[in-house]
Amino acid sequence: MATITSDITDHGLASKGLDRIEWAFREMPVLQQILTRFEKEKPLKDLRMACCLHVTTETANLMRVLKAGGAHVAVCASNPLSTQDDVCASLVEDFGILVFARHGADRDQYYRHINGALDIAPHLTMDDGADTVTVVHTERKNLLDTIIGGTEETTTGVVRLRQMAAEGALGYPIVAVNDALTKHLFDNRYGTGQSTLDGIIRATNVLIAGKTFVCAGYGWCGKGVASRAKGLGAHVIVTEVNPVRALEATLDGFNVMTMEAAAPIADFIVTLTGDCNIIDKRHIPLLKNGCIIANSGHFDNEIDIPAIMGASSSERTVRGGIMREFSLKDGRLLYLIGDGRLVNLAAAEGHPAAVMDMSFANQAMCSEYMAREYKNLEKTVYSVPETIDAEIAAMKLKSMGIAIDVLTPEQIAYLGSWQHGT
Ligand code: NAI
Repeated sequence: MATITSDITDHGLASKGLDRIEWAFREMPVLQQILTRFEKEKPLKDLRMACCLHVTTETANLMRVLKAGGAHVAVCASNPLSTQDDVCASLVEDFGILVFARHGADRDQYYRHINGALDIAPHLTMDDGADTVTVVHTERKNLLDTIIGGTEETTTGVVRLRQMAAEGALGYPIVAVNDALTKHLFDNRYGTGQSTLDGIIRATNVLIAGKTFVCAGYGWCGKGVASRAKGLGAHVIVTEVNPVRALEATLDGFNVMTMEAAAPIADFIVTLTGDCNIIDKRHIPLLKNGCIIANSGHFDNEIDIPAIMGASSSERTVRGGIMREFSLKDGRLLYLIGDGRLVNLAAAEGHPAAVMDMSFANQAMCSEYMAREYKNLEKTVYSVPETIDAEIAAMKLKSMGIAIDVLTPEQIAYLGSWQHGT
């Protein structure tokens, strides 16, 4: 195999990156414990891993853990705007990891980078959004000969992979890390909740209190964002298509209405659905003057940006380029943060390390599981084994100094019986 070299923006940024990677690691006690164990046990010995993730400080710490476990790791970006160039530099210079990522990469470069990581001919893939799996199954099918399994981080990726599996198109087993309770209950809810508001505030510095804040989608991410916006004093409106989720939002105290009804009163709209065109041609004539729009769902198609451009007479960037201001033909102004890409990563630093600790503990332990069990697995999508979920929750609690009660033998017998009545 020809020598493969990293493609990053500036190797000179390594010391800044290292400083931030180490800061994040302080908040990742579960991953610290796994690193220590992986160093001893080498469960990923000699395996090549192509990882397509947001290249942030937390991801850097996961890459360290995989390497400590014996893997040869190549990482590329799962989103061009979330890449942190200093982290890339430190991964290459301080940790000897192959990196293919530059902040702001265009579409061609983005796919060149995925192909760069795949050039190591991986045994395992690790995705956030299933782009690596898609490239393998469309353009680089020969790699299926060596790939033994993979993992997937996010809701949108899992939806796609389940579709592939249902059509018999999936070429190797994949564990849906997003399904772990220790992932989506915390990362999607508390991580997206805090970091989405963080991104909006950093981009705009606009007061949230007293404003009307529309949250499109009341899944795990939507619940987190709605609760954090409410905590900051916003009047929160939820839009949904799922009646159960809409009911849940109503009983959680939010106003639920259609996007048509919400658009004229919204000061902020955030989309978190994993669906497309949540704000589209129908809504643009209705939007309130000055409305600030952002997306925190995985792909940048939740907002129909071409439709906004089509309704505009001019546009300019404001606030150091992080926001586009559209002047509509009827004189209204609209603002779009981070080009409709994940706002918590485009305008802030993504999830706090303490939640990524659990998500990435799942990634590390599911990679270990895949390396051990792949021969017994079908070419389909698996949920995270319950034992892994429970172990991660226990490790996290312990690191927080929290003890919980233990079932007594009597309680175990009671819960396992059906004869006891009133
Ligand atoms: P989920 O499946 O729990 O929730 C999505 C919700 O959106 C569902 O309740 C669904 O009914 C609703 N929805 C679908 N179409 C809609 C429409 N047209 N209008 C209104 N609501 C609609 O998914 P989850 O976990 O909340 O993830 C949402 C998105 O966020 C996914 O794309 C996921 O990959 C992404 N994500 C982003 C993160 C970030 O860092 N910003 C972190 C984790 C996930």
